[in-house]
Amino acid sequence: MIIAIDGSAASGKGTLAKQLAAHFGLSHLDTGALYRAVGLQLLNVGKNPKNINEYQCVKLCFELDITLTKNPLIRSEKVAEMASVVAAMPAVRLALLDLQRQFAAAPPNPNGAVLDGRDIGTLVLPDADIKFFIDADIHIRAGRRTKELLQLGQSVMFPDVLTDMQERDTRDRSRSASPLRPADDAIIIDTSKMDVDAVMTLALSHVIAYSG
Ligand code: DC
Repeated sequence: MIIAIDGSAASGKGTLAKQLAAHFGLSHLDTGALYRAVGLQLLNVGKNPKNINEYQCVKLCFELDITLTKNPLIRSEKVAEMASVVAAMPAVRLALLDLQRQFAAAPPNPNGAVLDGRDIGTLVLPDADIKFFIDADIHIRAGRRTKELLQLGQSVMFPDVLTDMQERDTRDRSRSASPLRPADDAIIIDTSKMDVDAVMTLALSHVIAYSG
């Protein structure tokens, strides 16, 4: 079984992806972590979002140190900003496409895979068995992200997180290469007024209905 989950930042898509993977014994790929890993590598060599070029980013994608996707440093706001800038580059998206498709075609767990990101249902895996699109009010999402970052020991303030998130949301939704949007056949879940368990229960009911 292949499950595609797309959605906005801090919408709850990553948590849902992990929970569904654990429930059904599927492999999970957080595709945002790939873009973040490229962003972190650029920051590590002294780049900033204004002095990067597409060629250099593509080269990094092909040489990507995949262990960086598990590095807690990719969770900073600086890396998130860089990731959002590189993710808007069509050549970068193309360079990371095969890796994502190969994961879904031969997941470590033969039961299947859950991939979460922004264009999984629309572009990476248009034939996924089941697709979800997760979204929530931006103020709620910024509140969740602020809490998350504070728990990670980062000193952030809600208004700054909100402004950064608005900027990145606009970039993710308006870029020409695979903008964030629901696939036509995606199940849309607004998590603004739902807790983690409620989102999982609802998503689970859809997957079970699909599997018969
Ligand atoms: O989900 P996230 O915040 O970890 O994603 C980091 C950035 O990467 C974000 O700006 C959206 C982008 N992204 C993307 O464009 N396509 C994906 N499949 C996953 C993430």
